[in-house]
Amino acid sequence: MPNPDALLFARHIEQRSEEIDKILTELGYDGLLIHSGRPENRLLDDQHPPFRAHAPFAALVPEPFTPDCLLELRPGRKPRLWYCQPDDFWHLPPEGPASWWAHCFDIEIVTEPAGWHECFAAQRALAVIGDERALGGLLDGADLNAPELMWRLDEIRTRKTAWERECLARANKRAVAGHLAAARAFRDGGSELEIHLAYVAAVGQDQDQLPYNSICAVNEHAAVLHYQHRNPERPAQSLSFLLDAGADTLGYAADITRTWTGEEHLDFAALIEALDRAQLQLCDELRPGVSFVDLHRRAHLAIAGILEQAGLVRMAPDEQLESGVSSRFFPHGLGHHIGAQVHDVGGQIDAQGQPLPPPDEYPALRLTRRLEPGNVVTVEPGLYFIPSLLEPLRTSEYADRIDWAQVEALSPYGGIRIEDNVLVSEADPVNFTRQAFAVAD
Ligand code: GLY
Ligand code: MN
Ligand code: MN
Repeated sequence: MPNPDALLFARHIEQRSEEIDKILTELGYDGLLIHSGRPENRLLDDQHPPFRAHAPFAALVPEPFTPDCLLELRPGRKPRLWYCQPDDFWHLPPEGPASWWAHCFDIEIVTEPAGWHECFAAQRALAVIGDERALGGLLDGADLNAPELMWRLDEIRTRKTAWERECLARANKRAVAGHLAAARAFRDGGSELEIHLAYVAAVGQDQDQLPYNSICAVNEHAAVLHYQHRNPERPAQSLSFLLDAGADTLGYAADITRTWTGEEHLDFAALIEALDRAQLQLCDELRPGVSFVDLHRRAHLAIAGILEQAGLVRMAPDEQLESGVSSRFFPHGLGHHIGAQVHDVGGQIDAQGQPLPPPDEYPALRLTRRLEPGNVVTVEPGLYFIPSLLEPLRTSEYADRIDWAQVEALSPYGGIRIEDNVLVSEADPVNFTRQAFAVAD
């Protein structure tokens, strides 16, 4: 029985090679070299941040943590992978290409970083993707990160192959195991650090392997959109917990957020429930042809409706939108593409390479396109009590339309975000995150 991963991956490489060959031929390149990257030490230091391969490489080779490899693509030829397996007694060298995917490439093992350099000396009409610092002589006469090539390659990555969908679905399953363990640790009164450790243990990946820095926020820290610390002190009271954390599967990311509270916190629990319902409705609206900008506006209307219903804001939803009041409670974008990068490419450019900037009133919106089958996007509405955004409302013309006593009562809970990863298809959308929670429950 053939390994199902081998089959799916082979089809992925076959499809991507054809698409890339066509692009290279149209742009007049003889070939394309994609570097996996090299760890760079911090200034005046011999230590470097955790390594992760450049995403254009990780989208074609399932080795997201192996430095100094080079993928060579030439129209009409089998892709060649220059695989770096250094003779290094300080570190554990990579094991080498696994048989389930190695057969998709001509493999050349090199034993030192840049061991492939001389093979490409003075070749013309080569395109190269990578970091100038690591590539040196490879660049003589080559085109580095050429913008037209880059947006065209980004464009094909917006429609996920069956292999990529499988990796994204599996990354969601991994991350969901972590979210459930983290929720238990929160209920036990754990500190942010203890909750984070429960998360990575359940996921089975250290923070270095996760696709982004987890946001592990207890109580009012949930109001800090990219809260970056993990407090080792246990909270005096565990009111609320927002976890935005993912996982990696063979170079593909999950990006999931859940917000938890105790049943006794009636008002905040009701807000979580209402946002959860609105989020599910938005997920259901992910259909081919739908403008994500319109969907973002509908998210604002839904959140404004929740604020009005709760009596927090005495303004009709459309008035909250027009006045900008809803943006004080929901200041980020509804979502983004997800794939080999957590904020995956191609979200603000059309299929012809024309920029699609976000509307002036929503500068943080990362996805401004119409949806297509094969897109995988996040849907992540939020509702927060962020002091620096709400404070100016107190002296604005809308001050008397806000129930400030309720805002103060809810501020210690920080805020709410619910985030799923969803595939747009010709049929119903496929919610990888909800599916993973359903199986885990
Ligand atoms: N985890 C970052 C985001 O949700 O976009
Ligand atoms: Mn996200
Ligand atoms: Mn997230």
